Amino acid sequence: MRVLGIESSCDETGAAVVELEMGATPHLLSNALVSQIDIHKEYGGVVPEIAARSHIEAVIPIVDKAVREASTASDPWSDIDAIAVTYGAGLGGSLLVGTLTARTLAILKKKPLYAINHVEGHVYANFIDSKPPEFPLLALIVSGGHSQLVLFRDHFDYTLLGKTVDDAIGEAFDKVAKILGLPYPGGPSIAKAATLGNPDAYHLPKSKVEGAYNFSFSGLKTATLRLCQELAGKDFTFPSFGLAGLLNASQRHDVAASFQRIAIETVVDKTVAAFNEFSPTSVVIAGGVAANSELRSQLSSRLTIPIEYAPAELCTDNGAMISCLGCYHALLDTNPADPYTLAIEPNLKMKTLQS
Ligand code: KG4
Ligand code: ZN
Repeated sequence: MRVLGIESSCDETGAAVVELEMGATPHLLSNALVSQIDIHKEYGGVVPEIAARSHIEAVIPIVDKAVREASTASDPWSDIDAIAVTYGAGLGGSLLVGTLTARTLAILKKKPLYAINHVEGHVYANFIDSKPPEFPLLALIVSGGHSQLVLFRDHFDYTLLGKTVDDAIGEAFDKVAKILGLPYPGGPSIAKAATLGNPDAYHLPKSKVEGAYNFSFSGLKTATLRLCQELAGKDFTFPSFGLAGLLNASQRHDVAASFQRIAIETVVDKTVAAFNEFSPTSVVIAGGVAANSELRSQLSSRLTIPIEYAPAELCTDNGAMISCLGCYHALLDTNPADPYTLAIEPNLKMKTLQS
């Protein structure tokens, strides 16, 4: 089974082909990606209209590249058995580009179409070209748009244990980086600055929220802003964009390290609690923030089994994870989507069996 996966939910246009035989390990045959990071850098965050327009320019060449690189046949499409596409969650305009492309190709090339939940897709980055994690599987999914703790009993059979009640953790990294004048995307910038700082330099609060496995990051973000205002000798009315220039390098590094420690501890505490309650066979971390080495080391040191994570380029958004989950959909025979009617769902939730 070879599946072409298309991803365009935010600011990366991805297309990839993954091959999977029943009982084997999913194998990546091609993985094409166009990142818009350099375009959005100028604005300090993703501008939805620009993202959608950039996807339009990138999507056809990217799909063509992925399909060609995966095959030696004279008609490379003859090797593709199905198409999988992210239809939610994400930015509306961005999702439309990938979804309409996939729908059109499914009709033209006469291939079954599978609608993929982006957040669920992140978990499947961990299945590619390595021994697939075993069920029951506890997944911490942490990215720019999502922070969720999910218990998978099997493919497509899972329970959402908890999620953020406000900002996603990656969003908090991005916002704090902006306050500190560090470049977009903020996660890698904070992680880099933190290596030069003292994680115990400042006391920042760890939020307490209702629900054993829910997270919150907006209080930590505001506390970090107040700390920077205080260090700069300003009051709470002073605008965040004026602060970076008033802090010296060592203060910026210490704030980055102290913020990162608490943000990561917040998700690690809940993951460890879920591990103790549910005793899963595997623990995986997924999503852009799974590339964070502080997360990897804090979690590894507090669990009794090794954690599993994908290479950094498969943690952030990509087409490979969508193809991989698409392979399981195709092999396990779930219902394909109707290419004439599949609609995007920008606010798509993790659907539990009960919902
Ligand atoms: O999964 P992703 O590419 O897109 C979403 O689905 O949101 O994740 C992007 C997020 C951004 O917020 C980025 O700052 C964060 O992942 N990120 C990191 C690191 N690398 C990317 N956060 C912390 N540490 C990193 N090394
Ligand atoms: Zn993502």
